[in-house]
Amino acid sequence: MSLISRDHSVVWHPFTQRGMAGDPLPVVSAKGAWLGLEGGRKILDAISSWWCNTLGHSHPELVQAAEEQLRRLDHVIFASCTHEPAVSLAEAIIRDAPNGYGKVFFSDNGSTACEVAIKLAVQLFANRGERGRSRIVALEGAYHGDTFGAMSAGARGLFSAPFEGLLFHVDRLSTEGSEQDRKRLAELCAQGDVAAFIFEPLVQGAGGMRMYSPEVLDGYLETCRRHGVVTIADEVMTGFGRTGPLFASSRLRVAPDVLCLSKGLTGGTMPLALTVVRDALFEEFVSNDHSRTFFHGHTFTGHPVACAVARRALELTASAECSRDRERIFRSHQQFSERLRGFPNAREVRVCGTILALNVAGSGGTGYSSTSTRGAQRFFLERGVLLRPLGDVLYVMPPYCASNDDLGLAYGAIEEFLRSAR
Ligand SMILES: Cc1ncc(COP(=O)(O)O)c(C=O)c1O
Repeated sequence: MSLISRDHSVVWHPFTQRGMAGDPLPVVSAKGAWLGLEGGRKILDAISSWWCNTLGHSHPELVQAAEEQLRRLDHVIFASCTHEPAVSLAEAIIRDAPNGYGKVFFSDNGSTACEVAIKLAVQLFANRGERGRSRIVALEGAYHGDTFGAMSAGARGLFSAPFEGLLFHVDRLSTEGSEQDRKRLAELCAQGDVAAFIFEPLVQGAGGMRMYSPEVLDGYLETCRRHGVVTIADEVMTGFGRTGPLFASSRLRVAPDVLCLSKGLTGGTMPLALTVVRDALFEEFVSNDHSRTFFHGHTFTGHPVACAVARRALELTASAECSRDRERIFRSHQQFSERLRGFPNAREVRVCGTILALNVAGSGGTGYSSTSTRGAQRFFLERGVLLRPLGDVLYVMPPYCASNDDLGLAYGAIEEFLRSAR
């Protein structure tokens, strides 16, 4: 029996409607920017797997870090035990992250990093005796993950509809930062019950690779700071060089209080996430009173192997060579975006760091349920490229090791698609 038939009989895939989806790709190996399929075909991973594979698949140094750590210490409970890989990763993150963070809380996926950040903010005020202060403010079009808190903070729609009655209320601001938005935020903050403002800095990923200016955020962050609202930068996708610098929030003038990290943290190879906070926030949980404890943790929290890989991945990501690669991809995307001007159905072509995105205009409408890119995934696979449009949005987000030829292959396929979709 083929892998696909065996898969069909036992596997339930994430974000997949079996009644409508084609067969999954049977991937048997991966190296650099390329995936190897059963039968020997190679496909260019132009979306870095699930936006996480920053350094290329099966990077030899990350493989080595994992192997060595697995032999030394495989796993140990992280409540009441500690270990070198976690401590050394936390030290490195605190050193390399902008704006003076002091403590790192470990988990194992991006949703949980955000869930933890929201819970921390709400409990911070409870610890201060302000139990009613639990209102959350987020951006329109946001995505922070699939757990209930993260889902509540994200934009409502197709994904969250069945759970609508269980999601908590969230106040929304636009990414335009209009006078009305700023006034609304000031009014909300003045009510005294806003605990946190959560946002994806510079690029909203699942919302359609929407790029927006740091100045808008700075305006919101200033208001939040004046009112003591905890500000949470969800850098799950934008972190680790995706937008150019190591962290997108280094482009902000007003430093967020909390950073949520995952995906590229391990170069995209192992499940790991961090919620990074200031010492001052941590100190408000330190007490002789048990009820002030942050009671949250998962079995695989602070996994030694993932931490050892992340430690090495951070060094590689911060290296001059990796930063040159990101710059090269950025320039290449910019040149391609100029070429896309010649395509009347390529709208809102945009580039931020190593992300290039465009909206495909057509009769299929806009948004997530648009049909303007229907069949696009198969079209690209036939040309040897893995791309997964988000509704009418096409985007390229390659691992930083993608060569100029690799980029050319993805661009060529996009041009061909746009020509055929006219
Ligand atoms: C900005 C952002 N936050 C949170 C998440 C959730 O991360 P995970 O899928 O690891 O739970 C994602 C996932 O794509 C994301 O892009």
